Amino acid sequence: MKLFDIKTLNEVVNISTIPHRSPFRYPGGKTWLVPRIREWLFGIEKPALFIEPFAGGAIVGLSVAFENLASQVLLVEKDEEVSAVWKTILSEDAEWLANQILSFDLSHDSVKKELEASDSSTKQVAFKTILKNRIYHGGILAPGSGLMKNGENGKGLLSRWYPATLAGRIRNIFKIKSRIKFIQGDGIAVIRSFLDNKSATFFIDPPYTASRNNPGKRLYTHHELNHEDLFKVSSDIVGHFLMTYDNDPEIVRLSEKHRFVFQSITMKNTHHSKKSELLISNDLAWIH
Ligand SMILES: C[S@@+](CC[C@H](N)C(=O)[O-])C[C@H]1O[C@@H](n2cnc3c(N)ncnc32)[C@H](O)[C@@H]1O
Repeated sequence: MKLFDIKTLNEVVNISTIPHRSPFRYPGGKTWLVPRIREWLFGIEKPALFIEPFAGGAIVGLSVAFENLASQVLLVEKDEEVSAVWKTILSEDAEWLANQILSFDLSHDSVKKELEASDSSTKQVAFKTILKNRIYHGGILAPGSGLMKNGENGKGLLSRWYPATLAGRIRNIFKIKSRIKFIQGDGIAVIRSFLDNKSATFFIDPPYTASRNNPGKRLYTHHELNHEDLFKVSSDIVGHFLMTYDNDPEIVRLSEKHRFVFQSITMKNTHHSKKSELLISNDLAWIH
């Protein structure tokens, strides 16, 4: 059963053509999926509420908010560090964060001092998190991650530190903050609380830890999830949802069990090799 026109699904998206709105470079980030999200949302009634229950870098929720594809966007994330970033950007401390990034003189010494500092206010955690996300290998914040060795083009720690770009993204998100809400919490619980809301539309991008090869395990601090439960709860959604997962027999089994429609989609990973993921939905309207 097809969700999208197969021709577009096999075209690998050039992500440089997609506006980068998130301050994160997020492992498992879905920038490459944004054109498909637009197609999906153009095909249904404009949602009053668009919910991203596993937000991470939230490129999809942000794109929906900026492009006015839903009236309101709700982002949900469990990770405390990632949450600190969203809370700060959506608060009056956004400007503080932008300025902190602009004025930070990045070197091995300044990084060491900053990461060892014990100040744990939300805005300070937000700054530290953005810093780590930019200078840690692969943007990975989970335990076990650490500083990039050489960075890109031998530029070391500075290779992913673009202060003006980051400050600009933060200020732009702040400008549309009335359209975005953030909850630090459990994505499944939030889905459950909006199950009966017909105008709630969900983009569900959980950590990929249901399959045997478990790709999400080393990427996120919170990688454990009851995937059976997520599928079961999702089967009670009365509005629309689109879910992404790695293309794995266990996910196909769960999708079939709940009579979801699903289709594989090709993406290019960070190593520029092609990989297949699954798009899963309750949206029968997408069947051609
Ligand atoms: C695949 S990533 C999402 C990436 C995101 N779509 C993007 O484009 O940046 C999954 C996210 O779910 C978060 N997470 C894990 N368990 C969660 C839970 N129970 N509730 C909410 N978020 C959770 C992880 O911390 C991680 O940020």
